[in-house]
Amino acid sequence: LTTPDMKGLKVLVTAGGTREPLDPVRYLSNRSSGKMGYALARAAVRRGAQVTLVTAARGREAPAGVRVVCVETAQEMHRTVMELFPQQDVVAKAAAVADYRPREAAAEKIKKHQALLVLELERTPDILAALGRQKQPHQTVVGFAAETGDLEANARQKAAQKNVDLLVANDVTMPGAGFDSDTNIVKLVYPGGAVVPLPCLDKLSVAHQIWDAVLQLRRAGRE
Ligand code: PMT
Repeated sequence: LTTPDMKGLKVLVTAGGTREPLDPVRYLSNRSSGKMGYALARAAVRRGAQVTLVTAARGREAPAGVRVVCVETAQEMHRTVMELFPQQDVVAKAAAVADYRPREAAAEKIKKHQALLVLELERTPDILAALGRQKQPHQTVVGFAAETGDLEANARQKAAQKNVDLLVANDVTMPGAGFDSDTNIVKLVYPGGAVVPLPCLDKLSVAHQIWDAVLQLRRAGRE
């Protein structure tokens, strides 16, 4: 039986890959399935937390007892997360948020008249960085880093830049890690520089390890 050690905590998790419309029939997105975020939500609710899942993943059954808010774009995820943030104790951002979106979505389906089509993209809001700027002392913010090289150096840089309490770094090129797999191989990177590598585990076990680390941080913060 799972101990209800997250009872009383309000937890927000993001999951899935955002979709940025190009025209009425096409979008830009990424390979995130939502499995990691849903596992975090499932693990937290089992441990007694009050969980909200802001998700861009499709066709995935939400864990029982979790409040689900469906979004599509980075802009929608940004608006939703920022609105819910003040009521949360913990936020974990497993979603793969688009860094760029088409500057304008065409009103009609883009026709194939040109041999070469150039798309203009603009930056989306960085939700995690906004959370890092706004977080209050009682709030714990967990970010993720999806890297394809220099995992630790990039993750350390992200942890510092975004002012998170914990960064979960995964090298998404490793077999058994990252997008769409049922397992993940992560390193827990702390802003002070400590790095805790975890073995290859199913995503629910990774989620439990992340919550263990969050509870430990919150206990240490109270001492
Ligand atoms: O969904 P799965 O198929 O299970 O795959 C899991 C996963 C690989 C998506 C997950 O483990 C993961 O790494 N999630 C983060 C993906 C990502 O966008 O990484 P990033 O390094 O580009 O972004 C760093 C952090 O900033 C992330 O927490 C991201 O949510 C956040 N971000 C990024 C851009 C943006 N505009 N706003 C953000 O909040």
